[in-house]
Amino acid sequence: MDRYAVIGNPIGHSKSPQIHRLFAEQTGEQMSYEALLAPIDDFAGTLRSFLSDGLGINVTVPFKEQAWALVDQHTSAAQRAGAVNTIQRQADGSLLGDNTDGKGLVRDIQHNAGLSLAGLKILLVGAGGAARGVIQPILAAGPAQLCIVNRTVSKAEALGALFIDLGPVSAAGFQWIEEPVDLIINATSASLAGNLPEISPKLIRPGHTWCYDMMYANEPTPFNRWAAEQGAERCLDGLGMLVEQAAEAFLLWRGVRPETAPVLAALR
Ligand code: ATR
Repeated sequence: MDRYAVIGNPIGHSKSPQIHRLFAEQTGEQMSYEALLAPIDDFAGTLRSFLSDGLGINVTVPFKEQAWALVDQHTSAAQRAGAVNTIQRQADGSLLGDNTDGKGLVRDIQHNAGLSLAGLKILLVGAGGAARGVIQPILAAGPAQLCIVNRTVSKAEALGALFIDLGPVSAAGFQWIEEPVDLIINATSASLAGNLPEISPKLIRPGHTWCYDMMYANEPTPFNRWAAEQGAERCLDGLGMLVEQAAEAFLLWRGVRPETAPVLAALR
């Protein structure tokens, strides 16, 4: 049986095994997919041991940057993201690192929710690894403007500088911008602690602005609750992105792209 896994710490609550099992059932691919807990101080050893036999692995928090440093080759998406969430063992044993997070986000917004990013004014909140992972695919979709805002402005500026050759990217602090935008994407980890990034409510034009929280939970996230209170047109969470990034990994590994809608419906 072809073996795949997701590796992280913690890993117990990962939905990836369920998602990939549903993909395998749907496409008739003969494969197994398990959850693998790596000790914080031995990601490399756990990864290598699995990939001596396994064909591919998804990498999640907090190991995506370490995975980037460990693989032998990077796709252009992974190169730009500085992080790897999908690894494929090649025929010669070398490891190819990809990053499908951004593709997953863009596909969820454009294909599942039906909002084309072309020509939009987009605000990306946060300047950590999660934000970096999605910038290239967003710029490739042709927005009019992508402004990275972060509590620590210097990090937004440094991040923007890495992508300036790819499109209209800029950087700002939370309080600098008050003009409404078309789409706000929350890539901060604030929701994890039940907090909100302190951005201006004026960024949301009621009945127009869409909001996307890359986090997801059983209930609406704090960011999406706040956005709904400001009258946001749509509030989406990151479950669709999770399923879409998984579908991109499945496509890389198995050469077939599964239908995501039934899997997303099953998870909801
Ligand atoms: P990740 O890999 O999830 O992106 P990270 O690299 O630690 O994690 O980045 C976390 C991001 O969330 C950063 O942009 C951080 O802002 P700072 O750079 O100013 O620290 C942001 N963040 C976390 N908690 C936040 C909060 N309560 N309000 C605003 N931003 C927050």
